[in-house]
Amino acid sequence: MTYDTLIRRACIVDGTGADTYVADIGIRGDRIVAIGDLAAGLASQVIEAEGRYLAPGFIDVHTHDDSCAIQQPEMLPKITQGVTTVIVGNCGISASPVNVTGEVPDPMNLLGEADAFFTTFGDFAQAVDAASPAVNVAALIGHTTLRAAAMDRFDRTATDSEITTMRESLRKALQAGAIGLSSGLAYTNARQSTSEEVKALVEVVGKEGGLYATHMRNEREALFEAMDEAFETAAHGKVALVISHLKCADVENWGKTEHAIEKLEQAAARQPCNCDCYPYAACSTTLDLWRVSEAFDILVTWSKPHPEMGRKLLKDIAAEWAVDLTEAARRLMPAGAIYHNMDEADVRRVLAHPLTMIGSDGLPSDPNPHPRLWGSFPRIIGHYCRDEGLFGLPEAIRKMTSMSAARFGLADRGVIREGAFADLTLFDFDSVRDGASFLEPTTPAIGIEWVMVNGRLSLVDGTVKARAGRLLRRPGSLANAGHEPHSVPAH
Ligand code: ZN
Ligand code: CU
Repeated sequence: MTYDTLIRRACIVDGTGADTYVADIGIRGDRIVAIGDLAAGLASQVIEAEGRYLAPGFIDVHTHDDSCAIQQPEMLPKITQGVTTVIVGNCGISASPVNVTGEVPDPMNLLGEADAFFTTFGDFAQAVDAASPAVNVAALIGHTTLRAAAMDRFDRTATDSEITTMRESLRKALQAGAIGLSSGLAYTNARQSTSEEVKALVEVVGKEGGLYATHMRNEREALFEAMDEAFETAAHGKVALVISHLKCADVENWGKTEHAIEKLEQAAARQPCNCDCYPYAACSTTLDLWRVSEAFDILVTWSKPHPEMGRKLLKDIAAEWAVDLTEAARRLMPAGAIYHNMDEADVRRVLAHPLTMIGSDGLPSDPNPHPRLWGSFPRIIGHYCRDEGLFGLPEAIRKMTSMSAARFGLADRGVIREGAFADLTLFDFDSVRDGASFLEPTTPAIGIEWVMVNGRLSLVDGTVKARAGRLLRRPGSLANAGHEPHSVPAH
């Protein structure tokens, strides 16, 4: 039997949560075609993998890589972690469909300047295809982006005719291959929308197919009410729900994950729902006055009017200017920040739960990014699995692969089996770890030996050798007609 690539004697952790086993893997084209003892097989490329673990390429379910995939297609922060697919368009902000001129509204500015945005999803899809990123990309459509396209101001709920406009552009995007809707209801520019406004959009997702991911209205004192709103909204459209970065922010709310997890479990018994989580007790987003607090450290990462204040603590900037924190924040905005506002016990409780997938929520446009951008996935394996024993290796990998592929509808990915796409990551379990820290946020991970995307060796020795990623269009979308996964070659 001949293969394009033969991987020998890898310890396979297949993504399903099953026990690991040692085998050879044969790859032809972009698919795994054989698993077992392939000692008699011939291949143009043979890779010895004895003593290392081979996993499905990791799926980063929560990213803001919309424009990164186009402008920095090597996708280094992700592929160096073993990530082979990113879900973009989270937290209500997507790069399409919207036409932005001038100042980009908060928090869409997390994606970049006006040139990061596209009038239609088709234009965005074309730009991704043309850029040929190193990892696969699947895209949600953001509620705040739809608002920016349909409304002249954000400080009110949408009118009926604006809702009609948003529904139509969402429908078109879903038909062109977008995989669902996201919202960011906590943000100033989405907060004034009612549940009814969001439900009207989720209805469209229910009809066309896709899921609903939400950065909820509240992750603090009203966390439980916000969860109820999310469950109800998704149920209204009969769509699957992903609660983004489930957390309890601010000291007064620490410990609430215990009940939040209970609520998630109860909801999961009646409707499809999961959450995602990143492995750090600090969050990062734009700087906004209502987020400012004296109770925890706030690190400013960027500021439009005061770029020189990046990497400084808000309290130090305030002291330097002899003003209070709020006034300092006001002068710095638009700006980005890291907020050390979570409790490690909450983070662990959410990470460990079987309904939780891993998503980095990394911000690639940030000059001083939160280390989750470069470190989340190796940190799950090295720190939380190996060093802390929070979960076993098969379960750690399941949270980053098969569960994610199933929930986001990524056919034949997230699992090692015959017929699946050859998205693969080989790592050394003893040495794998995150390299990025709050002080050195862009240091690549250690211990990821190589990464394969769609059958092509793409990262070797920390260097990108190929950019074989694809835009993954929603199965069943009109645009997918010519892109249906081809049948598995015979072997
Ligand atoms: Zn968010
Ligand atoms: Cu996010």
